[in-house]
Amino acid sequence: MTDTPDFIEDRYGIDIAADTSAMNATIEGLLRRRVCRNFADKEIDDGLLNLLLACAQSAPTKSNLQQYSIIAVRDQDTRQKIADLVPSMPWMADAPVFLVFLGDVRRIRRLADSHDHDYANNNADTFMNACVDAALAMQMFIVAAESAGLGCCPISYVRNRIDDFAELLSLPDGVFPIAGLPVGWPAAPGYVSMRLPQNVVVHRERYDDANMVSNVTDYDDRNHDRFPLSAGKQRHTDKYGVLEKCTWSENVARQLSLPERPGFAVFLKSKGINLD
Ligand SMILES: Cc1cc2nc3c(=O)[nH]c(=O)nc-3n(C[C@H](O)[C@H](O)[C@H](O)COP(=O)(O)O)c2cc1C
Repeated sequence: MTDTPDFIEDRYGIDIAADTSAMNATIEGLLRRRVCRNFADKEIDDGLLNLLLACAQSAPTKSNLQQYSIIAVRDQDTRQKIADLVPSMPWMADAPVFLVFLGDVRRIRRLADSHDHDYANNNADTFMNACVDAALAMQMFIVAAESAGLGCCPISYVRNRIDDFAELLSLPDGVFPIAGLPVGWPAAPGYVSMRLPQNVVVHRERYDDANMVSNVTDYDDRNHDRFPLSAGKQRHTDKYGVLEKCTWSENVARQLSLPERPGFAVFLKSKGINLD
């Protein structure tokens, strides 16, 4: 493993036989990326924000339909109200900018109307395309922001209080939140979290998960050695208790053993989104 740069070792905990002769600043930045949940008390210039938003809009988008919108919230009172919706994440209010990435199928519906055409695509495929568009735009923003020294953290927890969140931001029919994104200058460096090995995630030539469980067990061990999960990070301890060794796979199984956001489909329906 002597030739493996530290940041690849940090990402996997094992050698991945990567050809690092192609390494450049973009690739290194991607390999080093991590969320930021600790923000300094420092503003972000409008000009820098506009530049990063242009990067977000440079993301690929299905048929160039551009079925997403972004709300940039700077107002401290609104940011505090958003943070108050998620009491377990009070640091959200510390970031000087809170972006909200939205799927937006409203714009084209309105344009169809203004061009006097039928709109015949209120369906699951359109919903999926809008989600992907918004997610890619968010990720392009994140990469650009991190390269400029900023830190970000996607927040899907805003969907736990989706009706309040939608009302706070005046979301109309056809517009739904994908994630929030507090953006600010990091007050601490954070850390690279370890990912599943490629033999679990990357399938060669055809799908094959025959060795998945044992490969994940190895990952669990590596991950536990580096980042043992404290009691506070173990999910649903009231139901399952605290474990000395709570592995990644145990914790994700715990997390998804109870329904998360069961009201989301109802919300989408209330906004005129059809998932058939
Ligand atoms: C769609 C999405 C939603 C997320 N929602 C939250 C959230 O609500 N709160 C939070 O603290 N982190 C959230 N995260 C951040 C993840 O927890 C984080 O990406 C993951 O733990 C891996 O860490 P890393 O990004 O530093 O590698 C979210 C990430 C994504 C992509």
